[in-house]
Amino acid sequence: MAASRAPGEREENETEKGLRVSDKGYLNTAVMRSTITFIDGDAGAYLLLYGALPSADQLTQFQNEVMHHGTVHADAEHFCRSFRYDAHPMAILTSAFAYLGSYYSEANPSLQGQNIYTRGDKASLALMDKQIYRLLGKATTLAAMAYRVRQGRDFVTPPTNLSYTGSFLYQMDHLGEENYVPNPVLEKALDTLFLLHADHELNASSTTVLQTGSSLVDPYSAIAAGCASLYGPLHGGANEAVIRMLISIGKPDNVPAFLEDVKQRRKVLSGFGHRVYKTSDPRSFIVRKTADEVFKITGKDELLETAMALHAAAMKDEYFIKRKLAPNVDFCGLIYRAMGFPLDFFPVLFAVPRVVGWLAHWRQMMLQEGGVKIWRPRQIYVGEGKRDYVPLSQRTPVEGLKVTPSKVIHSGITKRTNLASFKGKVAAKL
Ligand SMILES: CC(C)(COP(=O)(O)OP(=O)(O)OC[C@H]1O[C@@H](n2cnc3c(N)ncnc32)[C@H](O)[C@@H]1OP(=O)(O)O)[C@@H](O)C(=O)NCCC(=O)NCCS
Repeated sequence: MAASRAPGEREENETEKGLRVSDKGYLNTAVMRSTITFIDGDAGAYLLLYGALPSADQLTQFQNEVMHHGTVHADAEHFCRSFRYDAHPMAILTSAFAYLGSYYSEANPSLQGQNIYTRGDKASLALMDKQIYRLLGKATTLAAMAYRVRQGRDFVTPPTNLSYTGSFLYQMDHLGEENYVPNPVLEKALDTLFLLHADHELNASSTTVLQTGSSLVDPYSAIAAGCASLYGPLHGGANEAVIRMLISIGKPDNVPAFLEDVKQRRKVLSGFGHRVYKTSDPRSFIVRKTADEVFKITGKDELLETAMALHAAAMKDEYFIKRKLAPNVDFCGLIYRAMGFPLDFFPVLFAVPRVVGWLAHWRQMMLQEGGVKIWRPRQIYVGEGKRDYVPLSQRTPVEGLKVTPSKVIHSGITKRTNLASFKGKVAAKL
């Protein structure tokens, strides 16, 4: 092996199986055998949860279980109110999932034994399903609480006589009016968008759930990890980023200059491009149809014209054609805006339906043949070899932006404090 080592390659990167495979960003690595979802990246396709559609009885039972698991402990109110007044709702939701797990010690492998979810027997499956019902039932409750805390509203008890999205809308919007029923067009639109967002194979957040779940941690912690991953602007945060981008472009006339900035890599075109799809994301067509239905009752969003001009210009631009970049699902932000949701709530509207996808992958992993193997990838080490220790007094400083700690501005200290004098004060620097 050593004789065929390329210049710069290190012996330590070799194993008894040969040189380690480097696959940055998992471009070509399959880490699971899955029956959940298949994405045909060149043509487009999608599937869903327990493996087959339920019978009428199974459906009723499943719906009842989910809708009757909506209520959270009253203490969750204190938890939600403990966040700063302008906390991003995704920060609240991510923390809320981990917080939720602290109520269920019977569901925690750290306390009850590491095989509680992997045995595959009746009791183990029932325990797993109960956590699934709880997480699905409470996802809308926690998300609605994250919404209401920002609006300065009291919380409401989740209703059980509405659909999943109807209940979610009710929990966000009901202010005590009698017989409050959410608008059916908006309820249906949200339902369609929830279906579109329910699962999408091993995207970054589902992979994070599995990565975290592979240590056999409880499902609440694994879902919290997935939620954190989804928050990023390259993933679920893109629907928020799309609208911020459209606001920054302002009007159709500014589209050519913006696209030039994108091509010069000064700006990112959010809502375009996908790791798997190399054609228009098929979900984007349903998003457009849903948008038409919503706009009929809410009125068109003022950013729509800019979005359409951007779409038209990008789709005939050589840069985007050559790289097979087309709209993905994240232009649904226009619908959320028309429905009156605040921008920073958009990723929450992605996270809530994705909980079911995360759980499907987690469940499949717990039950996979041969048991769960911890996901522990290796790296290609390219750093320094062995170095001699140099005593502090004999060291010369290492200079360079990336190899020295940055000096930072201490934002907590005001100009007034800097100008004040007090015991132990070093020289004021303004
Ligand atoms: C989704 C995304 C992260 C996929 O990334 P990826 O699979 O690693 O693709 P790459 O970054 O390798 O992109 C391939 C090429 O297209 C370019 N590209 C990809 N997405 C682009 C975008 N939105 N705007 C401009 N250029 C883009 C890359 O710069 C790269 O060009 P190069 O080959 O000249 O270097 C990426 O397309 C992106 O950042 N999109 C915007 C964010 C977004 O909408 N995310 C939600 C996805 S559902």
